[in-house]
Amino acid sequence: MKPFILIGPMGSGKSTLGRRSAKQLGLKFMDTDKEFLAKFGNINNFFSSHGEAAFRENETQILRACLDSLAGGGILATGGGIVLSQQNRETIRAFPTIFLDTDAEQIVRRINNDRRPLLKDDPGAWQRIYLERLPLYQELATTTLNTAHRPITKSVSDLVKLIEKWDSNG
Ligand code: S3P
Repeated sequence: MKPFILIGPMGSGKSTLGRRSAKQLGLKFMDTDKEFLAKFGNINNFFSSHGEAAFRENETQILRACLDSLAGGGILATGGGIVLSQQNRETIRAFPTIFLDTDAEQIVRRINNDRRPLLKDDPGAWQRIYLERLPLYQELATTTLNTAHRPITKSVSDLVKLIEKWDSNG
């Protein structure tokens, strides 16, 4: 069984929904941001000292390593900018991919910017970054789940159903 990849903007719930759905489904769960943190430390600090390009290079390695680790199946949450690299997009295309969509209003309410250097000094940047990346998310999405304006429990159960259905169709 191929792992499922969750893509989408910062704060759309990739980590939380991915972790909870994987638990319910008895699947392995990984998160590229978590792996980054374990290997290189705090993302904000890494951006400050090494810059975004270095972050993206390491993110590409981590994406591949996570997919290798999940070769037997699982759910992978990714950082919002993973779709920026053409190489990553080629990689992601080979897997069932769920775009978790949301909107700016939700983000202002629930986002924590500790590991989001791109928003730290400019919270209004979310909408601009979102619109820039939207075509990339849409292009890669096998399916889309909108997580805005609904309880997390509802999004988790929808994600679980989606993955179960997919799984049973092979
Ligand atoms: C980023 C999103 C973050 C993290 C990094 C860069 C982005 O992950 O990878 O701060 O470029 O959108 P989340 O999508 O989990 O916030």
